Amino acid sequence: MGNIDFDPKKAAHYDDLARKAVFGYEQLFKMLIALLVEKQNESANVLVVGCGTGMELTTFGNHMPNWQMTGVDPSEEMIKISKTKVDDLELSERIKVLKGFVEDLPEEEKYDSATLIFVLRFISEEEQKLSLLKNIAMRLRSGAKLAIVDQYGDPRLDNFQFMSKAWRNFMKLSGLSSELAIQIAIQAAEQSFFTETEIQKLLYEAGFTKANRFYNSFIHGGWIVQKK
Ligand SMILES: C[S@@+](CC[C@H](N)C(=O)[O-])C[C@H]1O[C@@H](n2cnc3c(N)ncnc32)[C@H](O)[C@@H]1O
Repeated sequence: MGNIDFDPKKAAHYDDLARKAVFGYEQLFKMLIALLVEKQNESANVLVVGCGTGMELTTFGNHMPNWQMTGVDPSEEMIKISKTKVDDLELSERIKVLKGFVEDLPEEEKYDSATLIFVLRFISEEEQKLSLLKNIAMRLRSGAKLAIVDQYGDPRLDNFQFMSKAWRNFMKLSGLSSELAIQIAIQAAEQSFFTETEIQKLLYEAGFTKANRFYNSFIHGGWIVQKK
């Protein structure tokens, strides 16, 4: 996926595109619950950074009746879609949806876990990525988990190019036109790519530890870490 999903006019089509462009997109969100949950029926306060069209909020909300959630996203259009879904599913008592950035949230409220799914690639500068991760860390209790999913790798390497081509094949097999698959891949290429080592380094610098990769498909990866 590229910045196609960041264009307000196209935000409403994001869900369909994401399902076709990301292998196991829906399953991924159930996987996140499995990784973040401490015990069944637990109460937890969960921070969803870059909540977009509400995939995390609605999946977590439906499966985890005792989770409270705060979703934050700077895009007006995405937030509008998230809010509508949360309201339609009658989850608004447990889910707050806020337009803005993590740094707009009070530091005093500490969360039990957080997610950052397909967001980091929108931030090109290393320093800004680090600042976002630090801002998340500041709002987590010690021992809390953070799950990240994003594109990754080194586009200069042959194995990256091989995976990228396979990803385009997958998008076409999922029903996207050849042109759209290429367009999405081109837009992805214009966004930020960090290697797994670089991502883990940033996470450790931001105050996290115990990185574990839990997801990998083509050029997308997922890591879970714990706040020190
Ligand atoms: C590709 S969407 C992902 C949405 C959702 N997490 C998902 O996986 O379906 C990326 C979202 O990140 C948001 N975003 C971009 N920069 C951000 C930032 N600095 N902080 C929080 N969200 C950001 C965008 O507005 C967009 O809604």
